[in-house]
Amino acid sequence: ERKLSTNHIGKTIYYYDTVDSTNIKAKNIALDENNGAVIISEEQTKGRGRLGRDWISPKYKGVWMSIILKPNIPPEDAPKITQIAAAAVSKSFDDLGIKNKIKWPNDIVINKKKVCGILTEMSGEIGRLKYIVIGIGINANLDEKDLTDDIKEMATSIKIENGSIVNRENLIIDILEKFEYLYEDFLKTKSLNKTLDICSEKSALLGKMVYLVKGEERFKVRAIDLDSEGRLIVEDKLGNKETIISGEISIRGL
Ligand code: BTN
Repeated sequence: ERKLSTNHIGKTIYYYDTVDSTNIKAKNIALDENNGAVIISEEQTKGRGRLGRDWISPKYKGVWMSIILKPNIPPEDAPKITQIAAAAVSKSFDDLGIKNKIKWPNDIVINKKKVCGILTEMSGEIGRLKYIVIGIGINANLDEKDLTDDIKEMATSIKIENGSIVNRENLIIDILEKFEYLYEDFLKTKSLNKTLDICSEKSALLGKMVYLVKGEERFKVRAIDLDSEGRLIVEDKLGNKETIISGEISIRGL
């Protein structure tokens, strides 16, 4: 059995058998909680994804957790923390011998299908952040039957792809340790360098043609780089470059 060796992240852990959503739980207690408190549940009855989507969270089969953070950073820097989390999850998968890529800004994919999503929510006023909640959902040991037909097209689990069962406890410990390392480095240096090294190396997009979806329109572009803020730089066939801010545009066509 491994032991968690962090200074702040996961020093307090709330563990539940079932909750509506660990993000909702986290937001309910965030104001009174310490930086680094973590909510984990075996099951979510109202797991939530980005863009108001549902997140399937069957009992004992995944990692459904949320981290409460109280960094002294401007609210517009919150997406950077999401990328730190994506880098931490991706590196933890590597350690377990699970081949994976990061699909910018914050999905982890195996064989082009999603196995992990991150939902970042925050509270505060302009220029003053009260807290950030980083919700991490990992389809660890889900079986085919846990995924609905429409979701199967784009999502999978580590067990389905690798055929092996993931030790969720070890995975959680590894993620929290790696997250703390990258997060503290970011706060100390005010730079995302360490995270971006991982995000570039593990990118599912860089160098590839992707579709940029803006409202009803779709543009075919090449993903060429991440800038120092973690934004994606794309180039169209005429050589025009554009910097994409996370959350502003979705990217399909992997
Ligand atoms: C996405 O749409 O890609 C983000 C999915 C985030 C799911 C996680 S599971 C733990 C936390 N609680 C939630 O309700 N959602 C996040």
